[in-house]
Amino acid sequence: MVTLRDGKRNIVLIGFMGCGKTTIGRQLASRLDFGFTDTDALIEARIGGSIPEFFASQGESAFREIEHEVVSKVASLANQVIATGGGAVLRDDNRALLSSDNTVVWLTARPDVVVARTERRRGARPLLTTDEDPLERVLRILSIRGPLYQSIADVIIDTSDRPVHRAVGDIVRKCILPFRSGGSTK
Ligand code: S3P
Repeated sequence: MVTLRDGKRNIVLIGFMGCGKTTIGRQLASRLDFGFTDTDALIEARIGGSIPEFFASQGESAFREIEHEVVSKVASLANQVIATGGGAVLRDDNRALLSSDNTVVWLTARPDVVVARTERRRGARPLLTTDEDPLERVLRILSIRGPLYQSIADVIIDTSDRPVHRAVGDIVRKCILPFRSGGSTK
C-alpha cells in the first residue's frame, strides 16, 4: 500500500463533467491498490434509479441534498480514490468535507474538449440537455465553478491532450510519497 503525501487519507477527484474523473479514478485506484468510490454511483444506488430520471422527477436541489449525504460519508473513508460529480463543489460544506485530510486533484479540460466529450453521452447529464449552445453552456457553468474547484485543489491536471495512463502517472508522482513498503527511500 502506498502512502499519500502529508498524511492525507484519500485522493479526491473534482472537476467538470467530461474531464475523466471516473475513467482516470478507476485506473488510479488500481495502480495505487486503493479502493475506488464514485459519488454518482453511490447516489444512483441510494435513489434506486438513474440521476437524469431523478433530476427530471425531483429536481436539482433534491439531488444536491442526497449528493451532500453521500459526500459526508465518503469524505471520511481512507485509502480511496473518490470521484465526485461535477457539481459536488457547489456547497461550502461539501468543499470543506472533501478537502479535509484528503488530497484534492482538479481534473480540467479545455471547454471545446468538454463539449466534444459530453456530446457523446449528452442524455446522461441533465445539466447539459438544455437548448443552449453547448460551448456557451459549458463556459457559463465553468465561470461559476472554476473558482470553486480552484479553491480546494492541491493538484491540477489538464486532461485535454493527456492520455489516461499519463494523467494517472502524473497524479501518482504528485500525490504519493516516493517510498513503497519494503523498498528504499533513495
Ligand atoms: C453534475 C455532474 C454529474 C452528476 C450530475 C450533476 C454536475 O457527474 O453528478 O449529473 O452538476 O456537474 P459527472 O461530473 O461525473 O458527469
